[in-house]
Amino acid sequence: MSTIEQETETDEPTDESTDVAVESPGDRRRAEKRERTQAREDQRVDEGISEHEETITLKVFRYDPEVEGKEEPRFDDFTVPFHKGMTVLDALIYSRDHYDSSLTFRHSCRQAVCGSDALFINGSQRLACKTQIADLDAGTIRIEPLPHQEVVKDLVVDMEHFYDQMEAVEPYFDADELPEDELEEQRQDRENREKVKMSTRCIWCGACMSSCNIAAGDNEYLGPAAINKAYRFAMDEREGEQRKQERLKIIEQEHGVWRCQTQFSCTEVCPKDIPLTEHIQELKREAVKNNLKFW
Ligand code: FES
Repeated sequence: MSTIEQETETDEPTDESTDVAVESPGDRRRAEKRERTQAREDQRVDEGISEHEETITLKVFRYDPEVEGKEEPRFDDFTVPFHKGMTVLDALIYSRDHYDSSLTFRHSCRQAVCGSDALFINGSQRLACKTQIADLDAGTIRIEPLPHQEVVKDLVVDMEHFYDQMEAVEPYFDADELPEDELEEQRQDRENREKVKMSTRCIWCGACMSSCNIAAGDNEYLGPAAINKAYRFAMDEREGEQRKQERLKIIEQEHGVWRCQTQFSCTEVCPKDIPLTEHIQELKREAVKNNLKFW
């Protein structure tokens, strides 16, 4: 073997020397960082998100008492491509369909009618289907279940108690007199219709109840939604005076209208703009008038 050949062989780096260089802590960190960046890039490509596309981050509350390792409440982050007109519900559906099919939340009509997707979004009770992402200030959108309700799983809360309170005010029309012809419409005069119009818009979403400090501290308080429902029928003249008295008795009870401290939180969060606090105050006045006695 010539001298030149000998030198060439000697200069070649051995596998051993290469390994030593890669395993230095700095190199290892840089290699890991490169891998993470590449993995993120691959994920974006898989999801069809281009490099220049605008994205938003959802921070979503997660909790599943029935699955081992998920019983502890936590937040998961989801990066979602943003498009004009996108609602929080759209972003949640994207996250469920692209990242985690176990992500659980309620929704149905997607047009602020069924009331099933009331959530705590960026610190306020809102309908996910009615909340435009473009209208939210924060770069990261924090999504939690409605406060003051028991969480069943992820963003789903137990609405049983809320429905019980609604039932307690007998939320159905009970006419004083029925028309002779059963097919005849039971007309309401225009002024009376105007008076109850806003109260009929309730979609039973529970946002008001969740925002109410009094309801949070008094489990028996009827709450703004139920009292609004009582208002809707107590003020309907077609039910007659006697039925109105019965309805006032229900809302006058210990955990009825007098619990309200006029904080307006229910009115602020109502997605249907119902003047809930105003209705509660009006029923208080009716209750006082009802109890005045003149000898
Ligand atoms: Fe029905 Fe939002 S999905 S109110």
